[in-house]
Amino acid sequence: MILTFIIGVTGKGGVGKTTVSALLIKAIIEKKLGVILAVDADPNYNLNQKLGVVIENTIGSLREDIVKAVDSLPQSMSKHDYVEYQVRMALTESENFDLLVMGRQEGPGCYCYINNILRSYVDTLTDNYDFIVIDNEAGMEHLSRRTTKAMDVLIVVSDASKIGIETAGRIKKLAEAMELKIGKYVLIVNRVIGEGTIDSNFADEQGFDAVYIIFGDTEVESYNAQGKSLLLLPKKSNAATGVEAILGKILEDNKNE
Ligand SMILES: Nc1ncnc2c1ncn2[C@@H]1O[C@H](COP(=O)(O)OP(=O)(O)O)[C@@H](O)[C@H]1O
Ligand SMILES: [Mg+2]
Repeated sequence: MILTFIIGVTGKGGVGKTTVSALLIKAIIEKKLGVILAVDADPNYNLNQKLGVVIENTIGSLREDIVKAVDSLPQSMSKHDYVEYQVRMALTESENFDLLVMGRQEGPGCYCYINNILRSYVDTLTDNYDFIVIDNEAGMEHLSRRTTKAMDVLIVVSDASKIGIETAGRIKKLAEAMELKIGKYVLIVNRVIGEGTIDSNFADEQGFDAVYIIFGDTEVESYNAQGKSLLLLPKKSNAATGVEAILGKILEDNKNE
């Protein structure tokens, strides 16, 4: 069994969660650090676009079919096997990573049974990967549902504003109050326009284990505007280099524990 390193990315809407997730994946690929599972846990999924892959199914879109089918399965197939099979169908495999898109829960039905199987399946799935990067939707309550596994690092992304950083601090406190199993809390202040333009004392006061910044990057902006894969960003891209350095530090800190 591999020791999977699980990174969750959260923060309020539009701060750069998906961009940071995609750039983390880019860094892991380029440094050849291991096998990656990317999980898009935002119902308005778009991580696939930033990674340049087309997806056919989401767990959400399959769930409705699963509910209908589980009661009329042939005797030879257990409900459990059927759900696992469907989840495998939702996994998009590409050369450098696999991608699982959770999607939106459709319909008002009770999905508890299926959600439980899903959770335990995602848990077993995780054992096949060295890295899991989870791009979350804004709002903390969703974090706990995806997997029962501990997260090694929760990255809270913020814009460079004082209010934004304060909100990031609040998200961290909420995660602590929910008693999620999280190893380290990391704050990334994103789209910083220049050294000295953020109040770093204030950022430090939010109680994160580490605080990093990523500069605003016009290349990232134009790639996103064109819907181009961020994996194709040139090596010298500010944001890509920044995220690669941050990942290096996170892994270094983890090793030194
Ligand atoms: N470091 C950056 N430099 C420039 N633009 C950025 C940067 N990070 C994110 N953006 C832009 O901000 C917008 C929102 O980013 P996104 O990653 O989709 O946020 P979220 O997933 O938090 O909603 C995108 O249009 C993206 O191009
Ligand atoms: Mg997003």
